[in-house]
Amino acid sequence: MLRLQQLAAGYGNIKALKNIDLTVPAGSIVSLIGANGAGKTTVMKVIMGLIKPESGQILFKGQNISGAATHKIVSLGLSLVPEGRSILSRMTVLENLEMGACQRNDNEVQADLQRIFQRFPILEERKSQLGGTLSGGQQQMLAIGRALMSRPELLLLDEPSMGLAPLVVADIFKVIQEINQEGTTVLLVEQNVRQALKIAKYAYVLETGRISLHGQAVDIAKDSRVMEAYLGGKK
Ligand SMILES: Nc1ncnc2c1ncn2[C@@H]1O[C@H](COP(=O)(O)OP(=O)(O)OP(=O)(O)O)[C@@H](O)[C@H]1O
Ligand SMILES: [Mg+2]
Repeated sequence: MLRLQQLAAGYGNIKALKNIDLTVPAGSIVSLIGANGAGKTTVMKVIMGLIKPESGQILFKGQNISGAATHKIVSLGLSLVPEGRSILSRMTVLENLEMGACQRNDNEVQADLQRIFQRFPILEERKSQLGGTLSGGQQQMLAIGRALMSRPELLLLDEPSMGLAPLVVADIFKVIQEINQEGTTVLLVEQNVRQALKIAKYAYVLETGRISLHGQAVDIAKDSRVMEAYLGGKK
């Protein structure tokens, strides 16, 4: 569904990504792991057109989207749950969700909203409250709901479990798996490496802008370098 080929990007003189090759097959969950500053968020931003690639290609369902405008990329079927959630704290829960559908002009937006409320009943209960009054976990649910409102085929999640209590983290991972089982392909950036490898089919390890390791997630989880660097040592 998504293929990055020899993708390079950065910020001025900072070469954050160097010749990245990465594939997300349709229907799968692919996890991207790596230390702070490795370039994970930059991968997400460049896919979404938030920063322009310096070289290389981004193919979505065979179509080259590198350098395309973000609204175009969203309309093609990609959606990002950004790092830090970016909830509009002075808008209501409902308004935040509606923002996710602002590019749609079909007549199924209300039906999709009801589906989001079924998945996250707390969002329906709180729909008139301001986004900023929600707990961290509820804000993450809202950020995921908002992203789903654009009906993505490929959902990008950037550190969805960050800063959340363990029970809430478990909920978030369950929700990601459910969304995937219902047919949405997922590219997941996570610092919770153990969980990220458990739910993924494939995984990539990013080290200072380069892919150092990739393969089936079960194999990556057994790799001694990954165990030492990200899983707290040997088994
Ligand atoms: N807006 C920016 N301007 C300049 N440099 C940036 C900017 N954003 C990120 N960088 C740099 O690019 C590199 C990759 O950053 P990025 O945010 O993609 O890493 P990350 O893997 O998402 O890290 P984290 O785990 O902390 O979220 C880092 O060296 C970072 O300092
Ligand atoms: Mg990041």
